[in-house]
Amino acid sequence: MSTTQPSLDTIVALAKRRGFVFPTSSIYGGLANSYDYGPAGTEVLRAIRDSWWRFFITSREDMVGIDSQILLHPKTWVASGHVTAFNDPLVEDCVTHKRYRADHLIEEWAERSTENREKISGELEDLKIEDMAQLLADEKILSPEGNPLTEPKLFNLLFETAIGSVSGEKSVVYIRGETAQGIFTNFHHILDSTRIQLPFGVGQIGKSFRNEVTTGQFVFRTLEFEQAEIEYFFNPAETAWEPLFATWKEQLWKFVTEVLGINPDRLRWRDHTDTERSHYSKATVDLEYHYPFGWKELWGLAYRTDYDLKQHMEHSGESLEVINSQTGEKTIPHVIEPAVGINRLFLMVLLDAYREDTEKNRVLLSLPNQLAPYQVAIFPLVKNKPELVDAARTIYEAVKQQYRVAWDDRGNIGKRYLAQDEIGTPFCITVDYQSLEDDTVTIRNRDTADQERIAVANVVDYLSKK
Ligand code: GAP
Repeated sequence: MSTTQPSLDTIVALAKRRGFVFPTSSIYGGLANSYDYGPAGTEVLRAIRDSWWRFFITSREDMVGIDSQILLHPKTWVASGHVTAFNDPLVEDCVTHKRYRADHLIEEWAERSTENREKISGELEDLKIEDMAQLLADEKILSPEGNPLTEPKLFNLLFETAIGSVSGEKSVVYIRGETAQGIFTNFHHILDSTRIQLPFGVGQIGKSFRNEVTTGQFVFRTLEFEQAEIEYFFNPAETAWEPLFATWKEQLWKFVTEVLGINPDRLRWRDHTDTERSHYSKATVDLEYHYPFGWKELWGLAYRTDYDLKQHMEHSGESLEVINSQTGEKTIPHVIEPAVGINRLFLMVLLDAYREDTEKNRVLLSLPNQLAPYQVAIFPLVKNKPELVDAARTIYEAVKQQYRVAWDDRGNIGKRYLAQDEIGTPFCITVDYQSLEDDTVTIRNRDTADQERIAVANVVDYLSKK
């Protein structure tokens, strides 16, 4: 069984073929950097979200969750620094007028040869916009279409829209670029409405939007995506940030390797350089996964200090301090932020589960049971024998109380197994003629393709032990 990572094209094709991911608005020619999730993909997304929520929020007494709006007061983004500092360096193809990330074009150029790489002194991440302009000009770096490029300019990633029904009286609002700000602006409400005390964390899962121009990375980089972010608040006078940061690193690693079952060989940590770090961060480390297009950020872990709460205090005039009930002492808490994209987790989960079984000439997704779109599939051997269909339906009704179940009564049984292998269904139960005689069924294991016969009465128990 080959566990070699598939190419991006292979996973894109499987995702479309089996209903995981479709290109958005494809009947109109598609929309760049936008994807929809089909029946199988939606179940995997939900399972990832649920696992994250259980692991980081509901199983911990020091964590609570919120669900804030996508449209926040526009001052939020001024205070957070996104209006001025949330920028990408972009260049334009002088012929096609398509835009590209200057840093991404330079990275691709540097990867073409060691000679190119050696022309950059220091880290790629440290290049300032002037350095990029110089390199693009000196090395005559062209667009992917082979045309000259304009000088790089900073381009803000926030999407803007307007509220108000009367034309001319509309006010600009930003569509959120991160879920984190809804946590900061609700900080005092959370403190006032719960019994929680420092140190504690607030988590949120929700859509964020960024005007991304880099194409070709499938659901890794999209205009609209789902973030799962935590702001972990603590008093730096009582809790040192380094050990807390280290504990968070352990937690992220544990979730990815143990809950999502990812191969640790395809994971690594990378510290951000001083120049690369976001405007709000004192220390940032990325948990990177080896995607088919290289090592890329999966999960960011940043020490945001008291930057955000202080900024919101200054811009709103409201106090976001915590008052110690015994001493009366006031503190502005500091924050450690683990921030991940659910869609990046999703892509990693699919890539890591991909297997080619050359011996049996099949492709399978060896997903952990709790992440598979369907945890079990139920088939009557043929669909024109009512006794078989009825017996299979009875099992389907019983099993669906606890599991996500697929029903398939079409075509030959071998093809049905192959389809479920590609969807990642761990078990297929077939009701055949023997079932009518002795109340047993066959249960087939996705990973081994082995089949065993078990009593119908033991099906639910069998699944619960796997
Ligand atoms: N609040 C901090 C923050 O937003 P970030 O590194 O810009 O930090 C956090 O984003 C995570 O969100 C990333 O690690 C990544 O997993 C995900 N993410 C960011 N931009 C994305 C995009 N355009 N498409 C999909 N996921 C994205």
